[in-house]
Amino acid sequence: MWSMQRSLGNKLTLAAVAISSLSLFSGCPSGASNGGDNTIVIGHYASLSGSEATFGRSTDNGIQLAVEETNDAGGIDGKQIRLITYDDKGESNAAGAAVTRLVTSDNVTAVLGEVQSGLSLAGAPVCQEYKVPMISPSSTNPRVTKVGDMIFRVCFIDSFQGYVCAKFARESAPVKADKIAVLYNQADPYSTGLAEEFKKAFESMGGQVTIQEAYTGGDQDFDPQLRKIRGTNPGMIFIPGYYTDVANIAIQARRLDINVPLLGGDGWDSARLAEIAKENIDGSFYSNHYAQQDPDPRVQNFIAKYDAKYNAKPDGLAALGYDAAMLLFDAMRRSESLSGPHLAKALAATRDFAGVTGTISIDAERNAVKPAVMLQMVKGVPTYLTTIEPPK
Ligand code: PHE
Repeated sequence: MWSMQRSLGNKLTLAAVAISSLSLFSGCPSGASNGGDNTIVIGHYASLSGSEATFGRSTDNGIQLAVEETNDAGGIDGKQIRLITYDDKGESNAAGAAVTRLVTSDNVTAVLGEVQSGLSLAGAPVCQEYKVPMISPSSTNPRVTKVGDMIFRVCFIDSFQGYVCAKFARESAPVKADKIAVLYNQADPYSTGLAEEFKKAFESMGGQVTIQEAYTGGDQDFDPQLRKIRGTNPGMIFIPGYYTDVANIAIQARRLDINVPLLGGDGWDSARLAEIAKENIDGSFYSNHYAQQDPDPRVQNFIAKYDAKYNAKPDGLAALGYDAAMLLFDAMRRSESLSGPHLAKALAATRDFAGVTGTISIDAERNAVKPAVMLQMVKGVPTYLTTIEPPK
């Protein structure tokens, strides 16, 4: 039943299931999530299609692995977990609709998602209103958890990520940069926020931002911006965008003979980055939540389990999806009941949870304070360079 529900949820678009879902899903216990039955239902909203499809797919794979392991080990206080995932196609309206459906008709105990900050900002108000805890595995924009006391995340936030990229460029890059151009997606809160945080940090470290140019996600022609950027002669170009746009920018930059390294954040994290950009992305740098080369047995065990199940190496999203789900299950075990407010209280009390992406403590703002890694693209492989700790 579990796998049937999942695949139905994946294949049908939200518009198509809006009516039919009620009957499709009626064979399953509804309202089962809050006890009285032997399952706990959790929801996930994710981009399983569209130009950020690897974000949702990787995350869902990580979550499924966590669910499977937990169920195989006896579930939570004897209850099996059932996951319902909906594709939001990377679109804001669909994200809001997916969460509404999870919360009001599937009666989930908790919601996992989204990856993209802009989409978490669409889903979070619904969870907050219905008092259903939501954990974003990977949305880094500070505003996400500010929506309210039901909203959590297991990743660091962009004031830290901006600092990490700036510090790397100033202090540890193989060729340190004092002049950097910024090219950001003006239509996306993650990108605008990270661009701002980077600029602030970089300037406070004595660096100079030569120019700030904007694009809109999905643009195909970056020539005008890149020509202006080239005119300012920067030592690097900071591009806080998502992988499809970044890959297209890299290709066009090299075509214009701009050969300085590109620098970015976690939005680059996808195998598709190098598949699209090919050698054009080699030598460039980005910050991320985990490195595949990390020798920590916790990381290597996770990679082995993931590889055995999916025949692929997990990216950072897969690791964060796994951590978000495992941290949720840990809170469920400690929670007084599975009501939203009780569960939120248990989530807020999370300290030193041993995740694949590091040790996770939830702070007073419902964020996680964790180090970041810097990676360099080497022959298409994101390769570990250094770890940057949160400032004390
Ligand atoms: N941090 C990005 C955001 O908030 C999402 C992301 C996280 C993308 C990790 C890739 C890897 O929008």
